[in-house]
Amino acid sequence: MTKQYLEQIQFILEKGETEDLQSAISLVSFHLECSEDKNAELKKILDGVRKNIPIPYIIGYTQIFGLKIIINRDVLNPGPETITLIEKTSESIIKNHSVQVLDLCTGSGAVAVTLASRCNVQITATDISEKALSIARLNALTNNTVINFKQGDLFEPVKGLKFDVLTSNPPYVKSGVINLLPGYVRNFAPVTAIDGGSDGLFFHKAILSEAKDFFNPGGCLFIECEDDQDREVEKIAIKNGWKIKERFPNRHKKIRGFRLE
Ligand SMILES: C[S@@+](CC[C@H](N)C(=O)[O-])C[C@H]1O[C@@H](n2cnc3c(N)ncnc32)[C@H](O)[C@@H]1O
Repeated sequence: MTKQYLEQIQFILEKGETEDLQSAISLVSFHLECSEDKNAELKKILDGVRKNIPIPYIIGYTQIFGLKIIINRDVLNPGPETITLIEKTSESIIKNHSVQVLDLCTGSGAVAVTLASRCNVQITATDISEKALSIARLNALTNNTVINFKQGDLFEPVKGLKFDVLTSNPPYVKSGVINLLPGYVRNFAPVTAIDGGSDGLFFHKAILSEAKDFFNPGGCLFIECEDDQDREVEKIAIKNGWKIKERFPNRHKKIRGFRLE
């Protein structure tokens, strides 16, 4: 029975573009290991997947580097590019013994909580959405991490503070194409989490033009971007005096993130 359900889930995921197949299957397997009534849970997941609901929104969490990150419709479900952002940011924090880290636009707190759990650092995390911050606070608590959460518009809540590392996965979808996004993104992520303004780059421009005022000497910035935005982001970075230190490709070899200094 269980095998038959799993095969059906795999079939639906392979056919459609519901989400990354490998991570979805490993998330389902992990979820089933922890659940008592496996058949009932599988049926719930299968019904949801058939309706094109991403698995984290069906079961209420995702798993990142072994941590359980609670997800609901107030927050974006972090994608594989954000896992790369976390890996690159934590490598740099560890290598440079960074102390003060800022996660701007934290959403579920996935980035901040994972960094706090992997690295010995002080993390401040901000978001404009109070609902998202409630989930982020819960994720910090359930993963035994201490994070200084602040609500507000971009840098406004951290005025006067300085950081060694800034990491961000800001909204980056062009306002005009939000309606064209696949249903499994459009119907679940809040618009404030995806709307990047008319050119999709409103937040990149704001972050790259303001961030230098919030750095200790030698600080570095990690930022995610959308498919095919990389050239524009590089131009914005260079115009604002940043050096491109590293580009992060995804598994389709598209540049989806940067380390800037
Ligand atoms: C793409 S989501 C990323 C969430 C999280 N960092 C992740 O990777 O899973 C962007 C987040 O930016 C927040 N946001 C939107 N506008 C903002 C603003 N003006 N200032 C701060 N946060 C904002 C949204 O509420 C949302 O949680």
